[in-house]
Amino acid sequence: MNEKYYFNVKRKRPEEIYTKVSDYFRGEILNQYAASKSMMRIQENIAIRALELLELQKKDALILDAGCGPGFAAMFLREIGYRTVALDIISEFLNYYDIKDLNPIITDMCFPPFKSNIFDAIISISALQWIYRDIHDNYMLYLLKNLFKSFFQILKPNSRVIVQFYPKNQEIMEKIGKIIADNTDFKGNFIIDNPKSQKKRKIYLLLNKEE
Ligand SMILES: C[S@@+](CC[C@H](N)C(=O)[O-])C[C@H]1O[C@@H](n2cnc3c(N)ncnc32)[C@H](O)[C@@H]1O
Repeated sequence: MNEKYYFNVKRKRPEEIYTKVSDYFRGEILNQYAASKSMMRIQENIAIRALELLELQKKDALILDAGCGPGFAAMFLREIGYRTVALDIISEFLNYYDIKDLNPIITDMCFPPFKSNIFDAIISISALQWIYRDIHDNYMLYLLKNLFKSFFQILKPNSRVIVQFYPKNQEIMEKIGKIIADNTDFKGNFIIDNPKSQKKRKIYLLLNKEE
């Protein structure tokens, strides 16, 4: 990370207010999110950038979208030809799919129910901040470790994970980097687009499972 950037987020994000993601995404909020065309555009643009960073070699790569929500990224990936598996912990979100086509899975991404070495890539957009946001919380630590150990296991060798998320501060990012380094064999780094603009800044964690 060469460029200087500052966290000075004034408005509280929902994950700071709600303990469980399902307490926030329900009823009207869930419907509004899922129906929002601007949200669809934003999440698709993040997916496009995520694909750039993944540098996939195969056009028919099998990609896991972890924390897919209403499927903005997953549907986009499928439309452009990737084989896509989508999962989310909130079943109501998965009603927005054409369920037969995408066959999404209701599960906690920290415990993904897949065999080892099957995905060519894993994408996760705007979900990680719900899993790990308090460096003093031991249960969150356990979930985070399990998440990345599982991602390492289900990913094929020589493949990548890309996670876009909204960390509250730099301390959390550094802690996440250290936990991954201490608990998995992933090699990786953070990529920060528009680091100086609070509004446009996007933070990605790119992890490589080497051969
Ligand atoms: C802001 S939404 C983003 C959804 C989607 N990735 C998109 O681009 O629109 C965050 C999503 O992460 C999901 N999520 C949070 N924690 C999760 C977990 N432990 N397992 C699976 N999904 C989770 C939520 O249910 C929600 O759908």
